[in-house]
This record gives sequence, C-alpha cells and structure tokens, in this order.
Amino acid sequence: MAYKGLLERYAHLLDLPAHTRAVTLHEGNTPLIPVPRLAEGMGGGFELYVKFEGLNPTGSFKDRGMTAAISEALGRGSKAVICASTGNTAASAAAYATRAGLRAVVLIPQGEVAAGKLAGVVAYGAEVIQVQGSFDEALSMVVQLSEKHPLALVNSLNPYRLEGQKTAAFEICDTLEAAPDMLCLPVGNAGNISAYWMGFKQYHQKQNTDLPKLLGVQAAGAAPLVAGHPIEQPETVATAIRIGKPARGEQALEAAQESGGRIIAASDEEILAMQGRLASEGIWVEPASAAGMAGLAKEIQAGNIDPKGQRIVAVCTGHGLKDPDIITQQMETPEVLPLDLGVLEKRIVG
Ligand code: F0G
Repeated sequence: MAYKGLLERYAHLLDLPAHTRAVTLHEGNTPLIPVPRLAEGMGGGFELYVKFEGLNPTGSFKDRGMTAAISEALGRGSKAVICASTGNTAASAAAYATRAGLRAVVLIPQGEVAAGKLAGVVAYGAEVIQVQGSFDEALSMVVQLSEKHPLALVNSLNPYRLEGQKTAAFEICDTLEAAPDMLCLPVGNAGNISAYWMGFKQYHQKQNTDLPKLLGVQAAGAAPLVAGHPIEQPETVATAIRIGKPARGEQALEAAQESGGRIIAASDEEILAMQGRLASEGIWVEPASAAGMAGLAKEIQAGNIDPKGQRIVAVCTGHGLKDPDIITQQMETPEVLPLDLGVLEKRIVG
C-alpha cells in the first residue's frame, strides 16, 4: 500500500482530536542508516545508526510534528498559525500551512537563521518577521499573541507537535524490530527529546519493546539544561539550537533521567568536527544535527559510556543544505582550469 504520511501510518497510536483533518506531505518514513566506519572510529564493537531526519519534505524532523499540529488547527477552523523559530520550525510551518490554505506568520531572531531555512520560509510564502531579540524572546511574543488572537501556536508547546514527533521512536523500533539501547540527539527547545521519550514509552507498553537510554546534547554556549539555569545570551555555530530557555526543559530533564541517560554539552569544535565525519560517510547534516553524535563520541572517549555490544541510534535532525554558508564560508574557491583535455588529464591522472 502506498505510503501516505504519519497520520495514516500511526493513526491508532496518535492522540489527536476527532476534528483533525489530515494535511500531509508524506513526511516521516526516513532511513535508519548504518555507519560502521564511524563506530570503528569510536572504538568499535557496537552497532551505530543515523536516523536521517533531514530527508523529510522540508529537510528537518519538524515535519513530523507539523503534520499533526496543522491538521488539528485546520480541523478546528483556524485560519492562521504562528510560531517563533530558529528556522526549521518556520520552514515546516510555512509548508504545511500553505498546503492547508492557512496563513502562516513566523518570528525569527534577526540575522540568526541559516540561509536554507529562510529561503524555504519565503518560497512557501509565509510572512516572515525578524525580531530584534533572541529565539526565547520571540517565543514569548508568539505565545502572548496566540493567547490574545485567533492565531494557532505551532511551536512544540502545542501538544500535537509532540504527538507527531513521537512517531520517529516508533519508526526506529519498527525498523530495528526492537528498541535501541541508546538514542542520542540534539536538544534545543527540548520538544524532540520529550516526544521521543513519549514514543518509546508508548511502544514499551503496547509492543513490549525495551526503553533506550537518552543522551541529549546541547551546544556548550547554549546549554541551560546542563548549567541548571537559563542562559541569557546563548551563542553557538549550531544556530538551530541557540536557545537559552527551553520551553520543555523540565520534561526533557525528566525524560533523560527516567531513561537512565543524561543531557550533556558539546563544544562548537566538537559539533563541527562531527559534521565533517558524518559528511565523510555521505551524510551531510546541518551543525545542530551533528550534536547528538558529537556528544556520543565525547562520552565514549571520556569513558562515561561503554558502547560494547550495544545498538545505538543518533538522530540527525536536519539536512546540510539548510545551512550551506557554514561550508562555503570556509572553503577555498574550487580551482579553475581551461577546457582542455590535456590539461585536465595532467591534473587528474598525473
Ligand atoms: N535540530 C534541529 C536541526 C533543529 O532545528 C532543532 C530545533 C533541534 C535540533 C532541537 O529540537 O527544539 O525539539 O529540542 N529547532 C527549533 C526551530 C527550535 O525553531 O526550528 P528541540
């Protein structure tokens, strides 16, 4: 049977109101890619997989939550949706809203959103407002606006976002025919780690799968859940997770603790190094998306995790195409040669 997206695939497991009217771009169903060389590089002796969420319709995992949130909003009769975003939520909201025929308004921190994300928001036709403030401040604004006006909030404070996002846990268990021993993923506003935990617990109850340990990874300059207090001016190259007051921070800490795992920080250098290592496996992800795997490598190296005999999944949340500048700004302009067979032969085969 043809795949028709998450709301159909996992209808029996999603807690969505009866009025929900499915809006889908056939999101989800993303590959779980084995990366044995990367595992060898970390010492070997374990199975390592990448859940490549950059292969969703708008290039990030946000589409899982957005199909649910927009479908609920449409069914409820909403005419407009609003969100604050570091970029990916905005692009996803824009795509699903236009598909549903709804107005989409997105607030983004001025000058802090990667080019591929902003381009998506514009291409899908959403109204973009840059605010002179951080993501956290923008989120506070959209929450207030949605309380005062008929604007459906589609940030992950919206419970239906988590309903959609928990499907990634179902897919991993379905593909492996078991739960992994550990799941590593980046943490920003902390909705995704909360949603994965909901999903794993639900499968544990319904399908008797085990529960993985969760390793949540924040960027060192934006790590409120590691510091134990909000960060007023978060700073990191991983702009997607440049967040100082995660809306679902407590839920995320609880999830990590309940799972027997934890939330740690990885430096920008560690994140970018892992972005490079993933690219050399043929998996190009945006910087934030490499944080989960970077945290895993760090924990193994520090001796805090013994991976031997384990099955570990790292979630790569967004595609590298989202943030081309991080690569192009550092690269040398490719060499230019004349269109001459001899010259090209000499250069290529010596
Ligand atoms: N990875 C990417 C690529 C993201 O865009 C985000 C969040 C995260 C990880 C963290 O997920 O917030 O659920 O803990 N991006 C949000 C946005 C904040 O606006 O696109 P989280």
